[in-house]
Amino acid sequence: MAGRLQGKVAVVTGAGSGMGKAIAARFCREGASVLAVDISGEQEEVARALGDQCLAHQADVSQSRDVQAMLAKARDQFGSLDILCNNAAIQGPLAPTGEYDEAAFDKVMAVNVRSVFLGMRYGIPLMLESGGGSIVNTASMANVVAFPQLVAYCGSKGAVAAMTKTAAVEYADQGIRINCFSPGSIETAMFTNMPQEYQDKVVAANPVKRVGRPEEIADLALFLASDESTFITGTEIVIDGGYTSL
Ligand SMILES: NC(=O)c1ccc[n+]([C@@H]2O[C@H](COP(=O)([O-])OP(=O)(O)OC[C@H]3O[C@@H](n4cnc5c(N)ncnc54)[C@H](O)[C@@H]3O)[C@@H](O)[C@H]2O)c1
Repeated sequence: MAGRLQGKVAVVTGAGSGMGKAIAARFCREGASVLAVDISGEQEEVARALGDQCLAHQADVSQSRDVQAMLAKARDQFGSLDILCNNAAIQGPLAPTGEYDEAAFDKVMAVNVRSVFLGMRYGIPLMLESGGGSIVNTASMANVVAFPQLVAYCGSKGAVAAMTKTAAVEYADQGIRINCFSPGSIETAMFTNMPQEYQDKVVAANPVKRVGRPEEIADLALFLASDESTFITGTEIVIDGGYTSL
């Protein structure tokens, strides 16, 4: 049986760990050719484990030259660019807004916001060449509710959601769909590196009383990337076990 992404070419950033790794694996299983991008080096092992359908690529997604090179590599190696998951991000340090370090703020904005802009800026022209595509940006429930001490992170994810909407409207009649999803707490390094007390509080406050799994995120990314969601664009889908519904 043909996979749900048979014949598609996907770039997934932040694919060295967590959600990006799960998304890359799921996309490969559904027949896509995947460029697994990360800055960490971990993408090499991810690609090795996934076999011929997956190529590793090292890039800093906050840098224009790196983003252009990663997108060109996907097109040149696999023949097109059909799916782009702008997923890489950092959380930045914890501090109250009145004390937040300026350089740390700029770094979070570069990795989390500039990267998504660059991905769309240089990915859209490549998608237009082949008649369309699907862009899936990773935002966060930090765009929906407050997370004290994370002003840069929350602001960055608000920007991702707003850019998603704007770009989606611009390209809706040209075959490119652009959506984002906003995860709640998911069991990846970004969450498990938080203080234990913080983790416990978040789980206790979540109606489902657990954190999400990266594979549950990959299921949603697959739906948004695939032709099963052809009437969905400009949307933010919250995937949080009910956390923001309370
Ligand atoms: N884990 C959560 O609870 C949670 C909740 C909401 C949203 N998110 C979002 O989900 C996405 C994936 O995060 P995750 O939870 O899998 O965390 P993670 O830390 O496991 O993965 C993030 C990956 O991005 C990579 N990365 C960081 N900076 C980069 C750069 N400049 N260039 C290229 N790659 C870079 C890291 O090396 C890492 O592999 C992020 O956008 C994050 O903000 C996470």
